[in-house]
Amino acid sequence: MIPPTRPADAGHASRRLHFEVVSSEAVRGDLRGALLSLCSRAYEEDFSPFLALLSPAVHLLARLDGELVSHAAWVERELRAANLAPLRTAYVEAVATAPEHQGKGYASDVLTRIPALVGDFALAALSPSDDGYYRRLGWELWRGPLSYLDPCGVDINTPGEQVMIHRLPSTPPALDLDARLSTDWRPGDVW
Ligand SMILES: CC(C)(COP(=O)(O)OP(=O)(O)OC[C@H]1O[C@@H](n2cnc3c(N)ncnc32)[C@H](O)[C@@H]1OP(=O)(O)O)[C@@H](O)C(=O)NCCC(=O)NCCS
Repeated sequence: MIPPTRPADAGHASRRLHFEVVSSEAVRGDLRGALLSLCSRAYEEDFSPFLALLSPAVHLLARLDGELVSHAAWVERELRAANLAPLRTAYVEAVATAPEHQGKGYASDVLTRIPALVGDFALAALSPSDDGYYRRLGWELWRGPLSYLDPCGVDINTPGEQVMIHRLPSTPPALDLDARLSTDWRPGDVW
């Protein structure tokens, strides 16, 4: 359990959030129900198929007076940037705040904590719905072409996608945001 701290945006959030890091194996029963409810309401669709794909994963839960109000998770993926060794990456997913708690700085607070929690990875990455939201929190938009290796080993371009990265202590300084960035195919959204 991470000690309670003030939300990052104290101008919005005047009450204290409590944070908890749990593995996907622990997301069962009431916790699974609360997480599904939060994400389904935030994304305005049934989140169960997406939650099923989030395993193995690590979840960062933000609670207010015991109520789950905000969340993000990360899965381990290999990202390959041209001319660099493969990057063991914490790929962030399911960033969500319960609709009635949005605009209070909660997701910003969750996201601000992630780099320190994934410091043993070479990189953090995510696919943004709104790059401006993440940019102000230190995430950088990948400018080079994106692609994935399909199960037959063929490199498939994904021109419509966006990826942002967050540098970590062991991110190679030579990481070039204009290079090609590739990953492996996976079920659901590739990026
Ligand atoms: C996106 C989401 C997680 C944000 O959660 P939240 O807890 O409301 O976020 P925060 O309060 O920390 O941040 C909101 C603040 O970010 C800032 N902000 C939002 N979009 C921004 C942008 N494009 N550029 C700069 N700042 C932005 C604003 O100051 C906003 O405050 P305001 O509502 O008072 O204007 C939430 O809206 C959500 O669950 N959406 C549905 C799921 C989703 O789209 N997830 C992201 C997938 S990548």
